Amino acid sequence: MLSLIVAKSENGVIGSSLKEGLLWNLKDDLKLFKKHTLGKSVIMGNTTFKTLKTNLPSRTCYVLSKRPFRVPVLHENQYATNDLDFAITSSLKENKEAVIIGGREVYSLALSKYKIDKLYITTVQAYLEGDILFPEIDLNNYDLVKEKAFPKNERNEFPFIFREYKLKN
Ligand SMILES: NC(=O)c1ccc[n+]([C@@H]2O[C@H](COP(=O)([O-])OP(=O)(O)OC[C@H]3O[C@@H](n4cnc5c(N)ncnc54)[C@H](OP(=O)(O)O)[C@@H]3O)[C@@H](O)[C@H]2O)c1
Repeated sequence: MLSLIVAKSENGVIGSSLKEGLLWNLKDDLKLFKKHTLGKSVIMGNTTFKTLKTNLPSRTCYVLSKRPFRVPVLHENQYATNDLDFAITSSLKENKEAVIIGGREVYSLALSKYKIDKLYITTVQAYLEGDILFPEIDLNNYDLVKEKAFPKNERNEFPFIFREYKLKN
């Protein structure tokens, strides 16, 4: 099964070229990211990889880059590849679920080439500045299977809604 996980603001912002990493501090959303990726394969672009603050333990990571790699194994659980098809095929051999974790270039590529079975979408309830946007996606092809709202509190800088969608048969 191929999935995608993203956190975006109300105006579709997922990041900014002026600031590295996430634009919000949402501890409960990080927990959701962990819950929905642990024990699975994750696929990301090289830019997102460079912003990570951990090695994403207990996940097999595929990092996409157009550059040639002399050392394709970056870390014990991390592989570099030039080919999304290879990343997805290898991921699905290892685990039942492969999750596309961004950023924008890799979301766009995956959404244009593949049927994504499951979407995990966090909507941060704020309008934020940023020039990296989540690509348009037609949710009419999906059923909403889970929805949970999280309030703003000491753990979460903004209120947010987590939604899980399943591709219609
Ligand atoms: N809010 C969220 O949920 C979320 C999630 C993830 C990321 N983000 C944010 O998104 C931003 C990064 O997104 P981005 O679009 O700039 O970069 P990205 O998608 O993370 O990575 C882009 C890189 O991936 C490689 N790549 C792209 N297309 C490829 C292809 N067809 N074949 C092989 N390699 C390919 C290239 O690496 P090389 O340059 O090495 O060739 C390219 O520079 C950051 O701000 C990050 O914080 C947000």
